[in-house]
Amino acid sequence: MYLLGIDIGTSGTKTVLFNENGKALASYTGEYPLYQPQNGWAEQDPEDWWRATVDGIRAVLALIPEAAHDRIAVGLSGQMHGLVMLDKEGRLLRRSIIWCDQRTGEEVQQMNRIVGEKRLIEISANPAMTGFTAAKILWVQNHEPEIYSKCAHILLPKDYIRYRLTGEFATEVSDASGMQLMDVKNRCWSSELLSAFNIDRNLLGKMYESPELSGTIHAKAASATGLPVGTPVVAGAGDNPAAAIGTGIVRQGIAFNTIGSSAVIYAVTDGLQLDMEGRVHSLCASVPGKWTLMSCTQSAGLSLKWLRDTCCSAEVEQAKQENVDPYKIMDELASGVPVGADKLLFLPYLMGERSPHPDPLCRGAFVGLSARHGRPHLIRAVMEGVAYSQRECLDVFRELGVSIERMIVCGGGGRSSLWKQMLADLYGCPVTTLKVDEGAALGAALLAGVGTGVYSSVEQACESVVQYNEPQMPSQNAKVYEQYFVLYKKLYPRLKSVFDELGSIN
Ligand code: XUL
Repeated sequence: MYLLGIDIGTSGTKTVLFNENGKALASYTGEYPLYQPQNGWAEQDPEDWWRATVDGIRAVLALIPEAAHDRIAVGLSGQMHGLVMLDKEGRLLRRSIIWCDQRTGEEVQQMNRIVGEKRLIEISANPAMTGFTAAKILWVQNHEPEIYSKCAHILLPKDYIRYRLTGEFATEVSDASGMQLMDVKNRCWSSELLSAFNIDRNLLGKMYESPELSGTIHAKAASATGLPVGTPVVAGAGDNPAAAIGTGIVRQGIAFNTIGSSAVIYAVTDGLQLDMEGRVHSLCASVPGKWTLMSCTQSAGLSLKWLRDTCCSAEVEQAKQENVDPYKIMDELASGVPVGADKLLFLPYLMGERSPHPDPLCRGAFVGLSARHGRPHLIRAVMEGVAYSQRECLDVFRELGVSIERMIVCGGGGRSSLWKQMLADLYGCPVTTLKVDEGAALGAALLAGVGTGVYSSVEQACESVVQYNEPQMPSQNAKVYEQYFVLYKKLYPRLKSVFDELGSIN
């Protein structure tokens, strides 16, 4: 059996063909634009996602043509929270308003007014969020009533691709719980929230668990993609819950930490854990009968990229000449600086923050700058600042009773052993990486395997496929980091009023 994982990302759609052992046989990424028609707005054209999906499937089948003649199953994963609206003929009504769009400040207040902050957390497991789908739906109701009146279907990004592949209007619990329309404890749509927000239940798709079969490839999609008619398409998961499967996070005690542009810590919990302060998200897991805690840091790798682009042109030039990654040179410079960057702290709030301080107005800061500091100190301080921010998130997980014995680090951050060591020291637990880092696409493919009987359960799929490298253990430096971390934690509360005032200047 071949397993095809399709991940509808923000910069592109990644399509990977795997065998039953989780070996990637062929892979293709099709990119597309992000539209930012106004400051803080973020939209994409779902037609672009479809084009990239078709290109991806065609490209991997061209490399491994026998896959189309043998047994093959499809699993879907994608960026979470994006709003796709279709009319009754299934045509797109507008571009998708995606997860990082921040236009919905007023709708968040509206949600709190109508439902009440506490009740909203009790039902949807999260406080009203600008990035989640419900606020985006209310924005269209408020600002584009003509479009809303024509809306017959509301879908998430990967669920739109399911519709194009199978004709089915369906979703699954891991992604749908990021819409803020679900009764997350009972894993179903919430009639209380739907009626409070005036959203007709018929607009929403059928709800599945992640490994369930959701439909099969229809004739039109078969001729577009080259997949056989009748190929099973399994429900799949949002990109983070899918990555959890691809990294083997299926039981309490271990978590993954992606350090990409943004950073995510994701842990599976046996029961639903609510954070009434809204510092981390609670969602349904892609493992049936389990839930998850997830933190999202807006600017992790993005902070280091910002420093590279604004201050490190010399390192970028040197990297070009030596034909190496500029981050490798920056990493070496940071390694020569003492722990704590010689008394320099960095707050990574370059794009506001989500976890553990849901605050669109907070901003980045270097604190403790002295004339002694040079670029290497700035680099180290940025890496440490991101590591402190991750520890602050992890402390919320621990406070809620979710202990983490081992952390799997993925994304660009996992390639720096300096960064991983900082994380191990601050987390106080072993930190490891994956032998094969195919993340969400692998998770989606494994779900396809569970749904079609290749594996007996999500847990068994992970056991037979996911493998880890040797871990890095916490070091002597942990004590010094602890001192700095105490100071780091004091900065946000002390600077909050300054950030608010800065934000209010016209
Ligand atoms: C999760 C989130 C992002 C998107 C982007 O809450 O907003 O991780 O899923 O891929």
